[in-house]
Amino acid sequence: MRSFLSLIPSLALLQSAFAATAEQWRGRSIYQVIIDRYALPEGADPTQCNPGAQTWCGGTWNTLRANLDYIQDMGFTAVWISPVNQNYGGPRTQYGDAYHGYWIADHSQLNDHFGTANDLKALSDELHARGMYLMVDVVVNDVMAPSMTPDYSTYMFKDPSQYHPYCVIDWGNTTSEQHCWLGDTNVPLPDLNTEDPTVISGLSSWVKDMVTTYAIDGLRIDAAKHIGPGFWPVFCGAAGVFCIGEVFGSDIDEAASYQASNELDSILNYPMYTALTDAFAIPGTLNSSSITDTLAQYKTKFKDPGLLGNFLENQDLPRWANFSTDPQSMYNAMVFNFMSDGIPIVYYGQEQGFTGNADPWNREPLWPSKYENTTAAQMIATLNQFRNFLVLNATGDWLHSDVQVLTTDEHGLAIMKGEVVSVLTNIGSPPANVSMAVYTPYTGSTPMTDILSCRQYVIGSNGTLSVEYTLGGQAKVLVPDSYLTNSGLCGSEVEVVQQTKGQLASGNGAERTYAMAGGLVLSFSISVLGLLGSIVM
Ligand SMILES: *[C@@H]1O[C@H](CO)[C@@H](O)[C@H](O)[C@H]1NC(C)=O
Ligand SMILES: *[C@@H]1O[C@H](CO)[C@@H](O)[C@H](O)[C@H]1NC(C)=O
Ligand SMILES: *[C@@H]1O[C@H](CO)[C@@H](O)[C@H](O)[C@H]1NC(C)=O
Ligand SMILES: *[C@@H]1O[C@H](CO)[C@@H](O)[C@H](O)[C@H]1NC(C)=O
Ligand SMILES: *[C@@H]1O[C@H](CO)[C@@H](O)[C@H](O)[C@H]1NC(C)=O
Ligand SMILES: *[C@@H]1O[C@H](CO)[C@@H](O)[C@H](O)[C@H]1NC(C)=O
Ligand SMILES: *[C@@H]1O[C@H](CO)[C@@H](O)[C@H](O)[C@H]1NC(C)=O
Repeated sequence: MRSFLSLIPSLALLQSAFAATAEQWRGRSIYQVIIDRYALPEGADPTQCNPGAQTWCGGTWNTLRANLDYIQDMGFTAVWISPVNQNYGGPRTQYGDAYHGYWIADHSQLNDHFGTANDLKALSDELHARGMYLMVDVVVNDVMAPSMTPDYSTYMFKDPSQYHPYCVIDWGNTTSEQHCWLGDTNVPLPDLNTEDPTVISGLSSWVKDMVTTYAIDGLRIDAAKHIGPGFWPVFCGAAGVFCIGEVFGSDIDEAASYQASNELDSILNYPMYTALTDAFAIPGTLNSSSITDTLAQYKTKFKDPGLLGNFLENQDLPRWANFSTDPQSMYNAMVFNFMSDGIPIVYYGQEQGFTGNADPWNREPLWPSKYENTTAAQMIATLNQFRNFLVLNATGDWLHSDVQVLTTDEHGLAIMKGEVVSVLTNIGSPPANVSMAVYTPYTGSTPMTDILSCRQYVIGSNGTLSVEYTLGGQAKVLVPDSYLTNSGLCGSEVEVVQQTKGQLASGNGAERTYAMAGGLVLSFSISVLGLLGSIVM
């Protein structure tokens, strides 16, 4: 095994590694972590974490920091961590303890289950030293109360007038969704009055301070659709970083409205998640039109599809493999998320084939997997390596090209973004006497490589690419051979650009020494490090 440090400078990347904008996030690839479940401290008993018990298992900011190689080895360039603020710590509720971090007790304090302020800063520093971004999950719609009569004096906002009075959400009534309380009478989530100027200014200065103190690069916003228009632009403006919001639900008009009205930079792509399950889940409707239909709506509805957060799993949804056990089903859907418009997001454990159902079964501890280099992890590493290469390609503009549908039929579809043709199928693992003819804009005889299998394909006289599934329904990601030069994929050379100490220094950058697995030790300036690709061949 040889290790390379590929550090390809490009003007677009010469920027500080924190307070990142939407444009800087566009080319990133995100790994989502529930802090309590990612890694144990040394010496802890690895057998004592049952998701059904809904209690703390022992992960911290330090244990994540100590185990970042696993994430970076898969090629991710950003990590989204579960909320960092102080949570409810009283007697167990009907739904267990606040191990997940979403039950806010005091915004102004850090969650002492996960570490100290210095630990969080150290995590942020370590990510930046690796050229990676830190995304923090923030909960500002609500706090958690152990009863229906909260003692507001214990929260950051202490006046009852700073909360909406209790009411039950009438789903479908937007005002009600935004003013009434999430949770239930077992675990009520009092709703902050985000129209109150003292709440708006309080949350704005709170987030500004937190982003600055911990050098946070982006925010994932919980329950974003439960706050009315006008709040997010002020809040995210104060934060000064990329904001991606949770707008739960498959309604594309509702989702798109948050971006169209400039409420948020981006939203998590629930509409496409729904379409991907329609198209690829086995058993399922196997309806590829659901994807083409959603993509067609992108054009008129989303202001900027390239910023959407594409995912297959998260802390609120069943694992993909819980409803679709054929691994090829997940791989094909995953390739779509990496090779179409949007920022790919992988929820920890997806690469380990976790199969839990919805909350709490989808918050499995990662450590029993032994962080193995699974087939899924290797596929993710290849997809990230390729996407990072496309992003870094100094002269191309892959990120800003719109994905096109080339072909669709009952067995799947072929899409094209920039020069990359992805042929996806829903037939699953068993070999099938099925083929797909994809009409590409390439001229006859163009040699193409599938970066996932490194198999060669040749474009037919008619621009047609013929794909067969006699070995099973593997996804294919094809580019003309010539475009793979310097990608490090399928036998092509890796361009190794070593920055010597000080070469890119720009005053405020701390010099760091970074040791690679292969023993290569390099120094570079973090202030100018946009993206560090660790390419392992
Ligand atoms: C929607 O909910 C709000 C707040 O609860 C309520 O005042 C209003 O009457 C509801 N509208 C309809 C049409 O039910
Ligand atoms: C497949 O999806 C399309 C587009 O969303 C929809 O119009 C059609 O009814 C779906 N077909 C089935 C069988 O569900
Ligand atoms: C789905 O999740 C539940 C709860 O975690 C589990 O009992 C069940 O076996 C899972 N289903 C599959 C197909 O893995
Ligand atoms: C995972 O396995 C692949 C294939 O053997 C190898 O190329 C890669 O380096 C491995 N990754 C890690 C992190 O060990
Ligand atoms: C890299 O950029 C060049 C110039 O725009 C372009 O021709 C080439 O296709 C790009 N490579 C890839 C793999 O996108
Ligand atoms: C595969 O399908 C084609 C066309 O439907 C048919 O001619 C051929 O005999 C099939 N091959 C096998 C091995 O079933
Ligand atoms: C050429 O492509 C067209 C679609 O663009 C298709 O209808 C036709 O059958 C193809 N011809 C051959 C010889 O493959």
